[in-house]
Amino acid sequence: MLFENNEVALVTGASRGIGKSIALELAKNGADVILTYNGRESESNKVAEEIIKMNRRALVYKCNVANEEEVTKVIKSAAKEMGRLDILVNNAGIVQDGYIGMMSNEKWENVIQTNLNGCFYCCRQAVKTMIKFGNGGAIVNLSSTSGIVGQAGQVNYCASKGAIISLTKSLSKEVVKYNIRVNAVAPGFIMTDMTKATGMEIINKYIPHIPMGRIGLPEEVAKTVVFFASSNSSYITGKVLTVDGGMING
Ligand code: NAI
Repeated sequence: MLFENNEVALVTGASRGIGKSIALELAKNGADVILTYNGRESESNKVAEEIIKMNRRALVYKCNVANEEEVTKVIKSAAKEMGRLDILVNNAGIVQDGYIGMMSNEKWENVIQTNLNGCFYCCRQAVKTMIKFGNGGAIVNLSSTSGIVGQAGQVNYCASKGAIISLTKSLSKEVVKYNIRVNAVAPGFIMTDMTKATGMEIINKYIPHIPMGRIGLPEEVAKTVVFFASSNSSYITGKVLTVDGGMING
């Protein structure tokens, strides 16, 4: 068991995909989990039921990460209800692709607001809460290989995911004195609803560029997130780890 002191983790966008896998993997390793969702309450409740069956505590909160007030309120109340907050996983994210000539301000702003500003709002409140509890903590941010190497048709998404890496590095230096570590995981192609929306035809074109010759699984990202969330990475902060079957050199 990696988490032996009833550690509490908050995962954003935990109703499906990578977020759901992260929530389950954290619980499997002994953490209690605060699941936040934006639109899928019943799916989130099902994830919570699975966690409760593992004899861990689970709370479900509606929280749109793009809404600063909602984030502040939810993190404060959930941490109070659980009695502590040790881990934050900034997983919630969206894509709204388009080539630059067709990229409306709205698409640009929606993606930056959710992926980057949302991550900032959550980090800010979680850091305040962790400092208040005085037990240190770990923050894991979901970036993307696209944020490192770039991707045509995704300037908004890549800018948000690249900025998450800079945010991670800066914040890690700022909060190290409170025993809070901040790291990022950058997945490559992972089989989730977000990827499926891109279309299997496009995905299949990428497979020959993946040395492992396959798309990754949400559980493979979740295990890396749990590594950064646990004391197995106690001497690591400000780092980005790609989980991409060897796709990029980064
Ligand atoms: P997904 O679309 O299956 O799940 C994203 C989750 O975020 C959903 O539960 C959604 O409701 C939630 N969400 C979206 N906007 C939200 C908001 N404003 N407030 C709260 N929650 C919100 O996507 P997937 O694939 O599971 O992605 C999870 C994370 O991993 C994202 O940050 C994504 O950018 C990142 N990622 C995914 C990759 C992939 O290949 N699937 C590759 C690289 C990064």
